[in-house]
Amino acid sequence: MPLDNAINIADLAARARRRLPRVVWDYLDGGAEDEATLRDNRAAFERWRLTPSVLTGNKQRDQSVELFGSRFLGPFMIGPTGLNGLFWPDADLELARAAADAGVGFALSTASNNALEQVAAIGAGTRWFQLYPWGDVSFASRLLERARNAGYQAVIVTVDTLTAGKRERDLRNNFSHELRLTPRVVLDGLLHPGWLANVWLNKGMPRFENLAEFLTPGATAAELADFTRSKRNPAFCWDDIARLKERWNGPLLVKGILSGADALRAREHGADGVIVSNHGGRQLDGAPASIDALPEVVQATDGRMVVLMDGGIRRGSDIVKAVALGADAVLLGRATLYGVAAAGRAGVERALAILRDEVDRTMALTGVRTLAELRARDILFPHPASR
Ligand code: FNR
Repeated sequence: MPLDNAINIADLAARARRRLPRVVWDYLDGGAEDEATLRDNRAAFERWRLTPSVLTGNKQRDQSVELFGSRFLGPFMIGPTGLNGLFWPDADLELARAAADAGVGFALSTASNNALEQVAAIGAGTRWFQLYPWGDVSFASRLLERARNAGYQAVIVTVDTLTAGKRERDLRNNFSHELRLTPRVVLDGLLHPGWLANVWLNKGMPRFENLAEFLTPGATAAELADFTRSKRNPAFCWDDIARLKERWNGPLLVKGILSGADALRAREHGADGVIVSNHGGRQLDGAPASIDALPEVVQATDGRMVVLMDGGIRRGSDIVKAVALGADAVLLGRATLYGVAAAGRAGVERALAILRDEVDRTMALTGVRTLAELRARDILFPHPASR
């Protein structure tokens, strides 16, 4: 199916929704409990407005950014998401290749379906590894060692999922990192023959390949899924971040920060960066929208660490707003997942091209040439009705 008429991220989402069985779509799109934070991640962007600036003679914009020594062609990268293989065969590889082709970074989840070494083997591109601090310290040490050997440049430690969020769509669908073939799921699959043939009959249930070595050889997808559920470590704490930083001895970011105080704690424990994130509204329902939490973190860290954010990015103007509020760059979650679920690598390429084009247009229409100028100029104002 040609993608020419997918002109924005919402178009890709609509295609993804048509192609995926309900249980898979709900896993991709859903949030925790009443999904108030999920909705607010989007609504909060709309509460900021942009001041246009005309006749600036601004012929060309530069939206590139440097993070930990790598230059990205836009202030965004693909963030870590688990179980991507349910959306498209070898989706982790497709996402990583599309990111490399677009000149932006890619973060691979601990819960990926392609092993981290396999993703590294695609060659070109900047890759970061996202670590879930599951199990005991030997689990993290081993994954960090593998990530270093495979050439990953930075590690993201995700800290907002030590306790699982209550994702009610998944509970209703009886989905927990594993697709159980109930009559409803089978019927759902049959009603989505494109997905059924391309993903399920082609590859079967995707396995959490990074975890395979921690179980007996030949562990099934179900056994690996059980590992992701049973090995959460709610006792993981700030001192453990300092220990991981020592082991990794490279750039380390803490993902899931929503306050200035926690950002400073991350810095005290050796983190080089934080990712302001509520896990796309999938964890604490009622947590602030990421873009609302960002200014406090920027103020507290005061340029002393890299500040990234994610949550609700669907437009280039969202990215411009995040940078204007002090983010160095943003991570994409569902925006690129909609792309991969709609059309594999071509869909991800489309999503990245749409966002890059929209960032450029927004910069042109607000009269800024560079991201530094964007941060220095006061182009945002609160929507009058939200004051
Ligand atoms: C996620 N997220 C996530 N984060 C992480 O650190 N490790 C992971 O394995 C996952 N897995 C995951 C799966 C799916 C389907 C989604 C939607 C999200 C959270 C992700 O990195 C990011 O924080 C949010 O997705 C950002 O919000 P948006 O852009 O999706 O609104």
